[in-house]
Parts: sequence; C-alpha cells; structure tokens
Amino acid sequence: MGYSEKVMDHFINPRNVGEIENADGIGEVGNARCGDIMKVYLKVDDGVLTDVKFKTFGCASAIATSSMATELIKGKPVAQVLELTNRAVVEALDGLPPVKLHCSVLAEEAVKAAVKDYYDRSGIAYDPALFAGLGEEDPHGAIEEE
Ligand code: FES
Repeated sequence: MGYSEKVMDHFINPRNVGEIENADGIGEVGNARCGDIMKVYLKVDDGVLTDVKFKTFGCASAIATSSMATELIKGKPVAQVLELTNRAVVEALDGLPPVKLHCSVLAEEAVKAAVKDYYDRSGIAYDPALFAGLGEEDPHGAIEEE
C-alpha cells in the first residue's frame, strides 16, 4: 500500500518545523524499536496553544504525522489538545499503511508529553491518569488497529 497524497505533502513540505525559544512545554518521545525521535514545543497564552513546533528525526510517516498533529492542535485550548488521538491524525492524513501506524502513536505521545511538561512547569494540577503509560510503553504495543 502506498502513501496518500496528504502524507506525501506533509512529508515533503512539513508544517511547523523548528523549535520555540522559551517554550512553555517540551515533549520528547522515542520509539525504541525503530530509533525515531520526536520533539514538540508548545507556546501557551491564557490556556490557549498559540504556537507549536516540532523536530522529528524519523521516517516519512513520523514527519507527516507530526506535521499534521501540530496543524490539528494549533490555536486550541490546551485541555482540548489532550483529546488528540493518533487515529484523528491518521484520518486527517487519509490513512497510513498498517505497519506505519506506530509512527502516529509517536506523534500523539510527543504532544501529550509536551502538555504534561507545560502543566508541570506552570504548576497546573492534573489527573495523572491523563498521561498514564506515557514514555513507559513501547508505542508498537499501543497501536490502534482498525
Ligand atoms: Fe519509527 Fe516511523 S518507523 S516512527
């Protein structure tokens, strides 16, 4: 199975690449099996995600999913950002080959890790269950299949 046009577009021309100086939250996650690493930077004003950037050292799907994930969450209230799922990212990209679904899990986890970092840094209380399993789990084991 090939890649959708949207995946190719976000891989070749990724949105929101880079870093944010003085970011309010930074999340970094890696996949132990493929070795890919994703880092997400958040800027938050009045509880709203005003800017988001990412750096991904990884495969084409990892880059395309980080690009799409940042597009989906930009401008949203932080609480809503946490509702992002890898499935929503994959749907927005018109699908990914099944063997590449774990790459979208990495994008979801990087975003969540960045939000957690934001909460921790700003002393905002949260339910730890929101981030259960973050960073402990092999994303390959957490793939949501059809
Ligand atoms: Fe590892 Fe895509 S192969 S994130």
